[in-house]
Amino acid sequence: MYILAIESSCDETAAAVVEDGRRILSNVIASQVEEHQLYGGVVPEIASRRHAEAISAITRRALEASGLSLTDIGAIAVTAAPGLIGALLVGVNFAKGLALAAGLPLVPVHHLRSHVAANYLTHPALEPPFLCLIVSGGHSHIVQVEGYTAYTVLGRTRDDAAGECFDKAARAMGLPYPGGIHLDRLAPSGNPMSFPLPRPRVEGSRYDFSFSGLKTAVLNLLHNAKQKGETLSLPDLAASFQHTAVELLGGNLLLAAEDTGAKTVVLAGGVSANSGLRSFMERECAARGLTFCAPSLPLCGDNAAMVGAQAFYEWQAGHTAGMELNAAATMPVDRPVW
Ligand code: KG4
Ligand code: ZN
Repeated sequence: MYILAIESSCDETAAAVVEDGRRILSNVIASQVEEHQLYGGVVPEIASRRHAEAISAITRRALEASGLSLTDIGAIAVTAAPGLIGALLVGVNFAKGLALAAGLPLVPVHHLRSHVAANYLTHPALEPPFLCLIVSGGHSHIVQVEGYTAYTVLGRTRDDAAGECFDKAARAMGLPYPGGIHLDRLAPSGNPMSFPLPRPRVEGSRYDFSFSGLKTAVLNLLHNAKQKGETLSLPDLAASFQHTAVELLGGNLLLAAEDTGAKTVVLAGGVSANSGLRSFMERECAARGLTFCAPSLPLCGDNAAMVGAQAFYEWQAGHTAGMELNAAATMPVDRPVW
């Protein structure tokens, strides 16, 4: 079955056509990042307006690039939660109108589940069950994916998300928005042992994360150096930060893998593009005899192909929605209710 999928949860307007959850026929993305860069972060009002301007042309381009017409499509999928509410509403309302006009089923998709599904597009043999670390700009979860639509959350962040922590540390270092990728590019030229940074353990859960202490430590180092008129080596600071963040993320994930007896360990979300995290997990999984998967780099960030991939399995499970579908800024990944 061919699914036409739409994504507008943050600052990318995207549409794609995917066959049977696994094969990408087209994947079109219009990024707003240059405009938000001026403000050092996503401005929700601007994001919604740009989605409204771009969404019909992007969807038409995705359909044209797939070589199909609307009559070949079996369902319309859309990211309905979580995300910026105004941004999500643009995609949800557009998808509803399209489904209504074409007489097609409407499949709402949870944004984090779609990030996980980017792996189905990258690794044809990957099937649940597996253990997954979902790390994006707004979320950091360790989840057990028991089936394509059956999730259990084992751990989560108690404060900042991993991507948010990368972006705030990068911003303090004077790197452009969004900072995660720029910090990642700088880190290999520095010494990861230069600055000892805090690795807080979270009381009460073996798998929960806390990143605010790490972020504050970087801000304090920079602030104190500035007050003393000293300059810090930014590559050394980037390398030390990345090394610590990767060990926090990867350490909890490996602990959960050991406790649950997982055989396959998967990364998902924007931060899964991080070179340090990928090589740490590759190395540690190989040493433990675990299969390791991460999305191909172009599918780590927000895109609609991953929405079309997850939508196929949601549709197979009967998870469609009616015309009363609404968007939601928050939604649990293990129990989405539409
Ligand atoms: O999943 P995503 O594209 O959007 C959300 O759903 O939030 O994640 C975006 C986050 C941003 O914080 C961005 O800086 C981070 O992913 N990111 C990275 C890298 N590439 C993107 N963080 C660290 N290293 C990277 N290479
Ligand atoms: Zn995302």
